[in-house]
Amino acid sequence: MARKKQIVALLLLVLVVGATFWATLQNPAHSLEKLGYTQDEASEIVKLLSPADIDYILVRGHDPNILAMLHAPEFRAENFQKYLLAQVSKQFTPEEIVLLVNHPDYETSLTYDHKMFEVMLDPYYIPAKRAAYFAALASRRDEIADNVLVPFEGEASEIDAEITTRDLVERVNAGHTRPVYEQAEPTDPEWGELMLVNKFYYLDADFAPPLVEMDAQYGAPSVLINEVAYQHFQDMYTAAAAAGLRLYVTSGYRDYLGQQEVLNDYLSRMNEVEALKYAAKPGHSEHQTGLALDIFTPGGTIDNFASLPEAQWLADHAYEYGFILRYPKGKEEITGFDYEAWHYRYVGKEVAEYLQHHDITFDEWAEWMAAEENQ
Ligand code: DAL
Ligand code: ZN
Repeated sequence: MARKKQIVALLLLVLVVGATFWATLQNPAHSLEKLGYTQDEASEIVKLLSPADIDYILVRGHDPNILAMLHAPEFRAENFQKYLLAQVSKQFTPEEIVLLVNHPDYETSLTYDHKMFEVMLDPYYIPAKRAAYFAALASRRDEIADNVLVPFEGEASEIDAEITTRDLVERVNAGHTRPVYEQAEPTDPEWGELMLVNKFYYLDADFAPPLVEMDAQYGAPSVLINEVAYQHFQDMYTAAAAAGLRLYVTSGYRDYLGQQEVLNDYLSRMNEVEALKYAAKPGHSEHQTGLALDIFTPGGTIDNFASLPEAQWLADHAYEYGFILRYPKGKEEITGFDYEAWHYRYVGKEVAEYLQHHDITFDEWAEWMAAEENQ
């Protein structure tokens, strides 16, 4: 009898030891350790990932980047296997892989390079323009002659392989994938003080906004302007005066024919390519909105105004009154116009403040905002 008990006990012992050994073999943490992960790493992986993901790791072998991915603040467990697959593009850090794959427009079938990644993470990335960004990138990368980005008049040679990703996104956002003027669309006056008028968007010839006449103390006689813009201009004028500066408005609202006259004046003095850097074609001038003002100081001219204190004061303070410098220096490729230190556009305080503190043009902002609203 005693002997029988001994045998049962021995059998039980063998069973327990065997089961424990079997369980150890099956333990994923143990398997991960065998693959080369430390004990801590293995238990972290087991804690954060599903059995299917762990199997996936076990099949693929040791991957030193897995822990960095798990530690990335944006890590999403549901994307884990896609992160590993995306590593075929060798140029990404584990943290970048996480951001790239998390992106709503990420496609597993595409091989991404760093420039595409930068484009997708650009703060003004517009999903609907993805194909245009990538086409522009490809044309830049291969330096093919027929660049996707359409240059402004007579400036074909200025688009080169050196363009930064931010510039490229800005160009695409601002509409430079189609020829200026030729394929322009009507602007939406419903946008009110935020309506976009440029070389891609125009106002009908008979568009005439409600206007008021400015008092003669502010500049040239009989200047017309949008009423809200006028109120804010007056505050700005007073603030400039308090700073010892005198503003002087030479032009406000111009109707379609008035704009034709301005352009004709330039055309009488220079060729069309040059003239179109200084004057918009009729229908395409912001002056027709009633929201744009050419602001100088007595004695200021197109040639010297940029260097006068009034120009600096406006550049620093106009946004506080809802006005923006519409054609800034360095943004000629985006706006399509030469730097105009005097041309201010009323857009309201909120947007003016945003634009003052973010290095983007109104052209890009308006396209981006329209895209956001359509989403
Ligand atoms: N000078 C500006 C660009 C206009 O003609 O509207
Ligand atoms: Zn102007």
